[in-house]
Amino acid sequence: MNELPRGTPEWWNARYLNADAPWDTGIVPPEVVALIESGEPQPGWALDLGCGSGVTSRYLAANGFRVVGVDLALSALSRAAQMAARQGLAAYFCQGDVTDLGFVQMRATLAVDVGCFHAVLPERRPAYVASLAERLLPGALYLLYTFEPFLSEQTGPSGLSPADLSTFAPRFGLRWAQHGFDRERLSAWHLWQRAHV
Ligand SMILES: C[S@@+](CC[C@H](N)C(=O)[O-])C[C@H]1O[C@@H](n2cnc3c(N)ncnc32)[C@H](O)[C@@H]1O
Repeated sequence: MNELPRGTPEWWNARYLNADAPWDTGIVPPEVVALIESGEPQPGWALDLGCGSGVTSRYLAANGFRVVGVDLALSALSRAAQMAARQGLAAYFCQGDVTDLGFVQMRATLAVDVGCFHAVLPERRPAYVASLAERLLPGALYLLYTFEPFLSEQTGPSGLSPADLSTFAPRFGLRWAQHGFDRERLSAWHLWQRAHV
């Protein structure tokens, strides 16, 4: 049982250490693969927000990107870094909060977030969007996977709300959204593009 304060780095870390991380399947999401195989993302730096054990980060690095993976959970990050080093990949991992990416010095052509945004407290989500926007080059693509809005017994209203969606404009334009169903919840993939503003 994870008795630590929910959402803290220690809480996330304990989830990985206690094998309570059902998302950590080792599978690169097909939506990420499809985007890379489309050839649309421009070569350069990529950001993996809430990278966990770095499955997507390593895939991006194996496909020519230099990758920075950011997460709160040290145990996941150290596994990610060990595997990337073993495979000789240009994927680097930092413990940090995705709502304050001030420690990231580069500008990326691509960002991915597979399941982190909806874990960020609603009041910190505008900071996430602003911080990410500053670290993306104009025209950069940003692929986001989230749960759709639902009522959680533990946390109350959860998932990507209409208010969240509105925080992306005008810095991001929505290219497309695909709605689906995952682990008994409605979910969605969104592809955003960093505007020239
Ligand atoms: C559902 S998991 C997804 C992990 C990974 N993207 C994957 O697909 O395996 C969410 C991840 O976001 C991380 N996380 C949650 N809030 C965060 C925050 N504010 N800053 C950085 N990472 C965060 C957690 O530690 C966790 O690894």
